Amino acid sequence: MKHILITGVSSGIGYTAAKYFIEKGYHVFGSVRKEADAERLNKELGKAITPLLFDVVDEEAIAKGVETARQQLGPGENLAGLVANAGIHIPGPILHLSREDMRHQFEVNVFGSLGVIQAFIPLLRKTDQQAAGRIIHVGSTSGAIPLPFSALYAATKSAMHSLCDTLRRELMLYEIDVIDIYVGPVKNEMVSKVAIYKERYKETDYYHSISARLENALENTIPKGLSEREVAVVLFENIEKTKPKHRFAVNKDWFNTWFLPNLLPIRLLDKILAKKLQLRPEDFEANKSK
Ligand SMILES: NC(=O)c1ccc[n+]([C@@H]2O[C@H](COP(=O)([O-])OP(=O)(O)OC[C@H]3O[C@@H](n4cnc5c(N)ncnc54)[C@H](OP(=O)(O)O)[C@@H]3O)[C@@H](O)[C@H]2O)c1
Repeated sequence: MKHILITGVSSGIGYTAAKYFIEKGYHVFGSVRKEADAERLNKELGKAITPLLFDVVDEEAIAKGVETARQQLGPGENLAGLVANAGIHIPGPILHLSREDMRHQFEVNVFGSLGVIQAFIPLLRKTDQQAAGRIIHVGSTSGAIPLPFSALYAATKSAMHSLCDTLRRELMLYEIDVIDIYVGPVKNEMVSKVAIYKERYKETDYYHSISARLENALENTIPKGLSEREVAVVLFENIEKTKPKHRFAVNKDWFNTWFLPNLLPIRLLDKILAKKLQLRPEDFEANKSK
């Protein structure tokens, strides 16, 4: 039996990936934060899933999760993979982001992901029966193409891209590979869940711009995005394949959301974004009178 740990399986990509790995014969350890989510998953997915109750910022709870997983693995068994998927996005203009919101995104997306990886590495190590497991970080195109009002989210994903390179090199000692995926927009609830944050900036000079950015994402980018299942398939294939790439982008509208922004000179991209998101001085003047 193959086992995998996926963090953040209560919803979204993590939930769909858990179901997909189960379809493919895996047993999934899935992290959730609420008892109610653990019960729901047990009901929906049965014995093929073992929910682990931890918040990625809680080291003690993670350690308990490691023990639960260790006890459930049979003799000679290990984790074939760890998908560091749990993540949050708190949008806002840098000028007005609170220190707490900035810290929290790093706590969850960077230190939380690293804490889980550190704690579960012993269970990924090769055994006399199974090859060493593999780590996949669910990154974002924002990590390579940071957009206005996603600054800290983008910075956390970018930090993880760097940390994945170091981890991969350090973990060669144990033959544990580390893969980092720049995931493009996904057709799910993640952005709509946080769109309400724009109201925090109602009294600032950025209200029109952040509204334009979030509305554009919800109306155009997200509906054209990847399905969660498409991401789940990529995760599965990259746990299974013999020679995965260490880093790659997965995108639906590849030309507009990956190829073009990476190709354009940065100053030109700045201008295009400023026009689209009403960040030019003339927009500032026009929006003042609204
Ligand atoms: N949606 C996109 O367009 C997109 C694009 C690129 C990359 N991604 C990345 O994909 C990953 C999954 O996102 P998603 O789209 O599936 O969104 P989602 O449905 O909001 O899923 C996020 C998951 O992370 C969990 N989580 C949040 N904070 C946590 C914490 N402190 N400790 C433990 N778990 C925590 C959530 O659990 P709770 O239910 O308990 O909050 C949930 O299960 C994220 O890393 C995100 O950055 C998403």
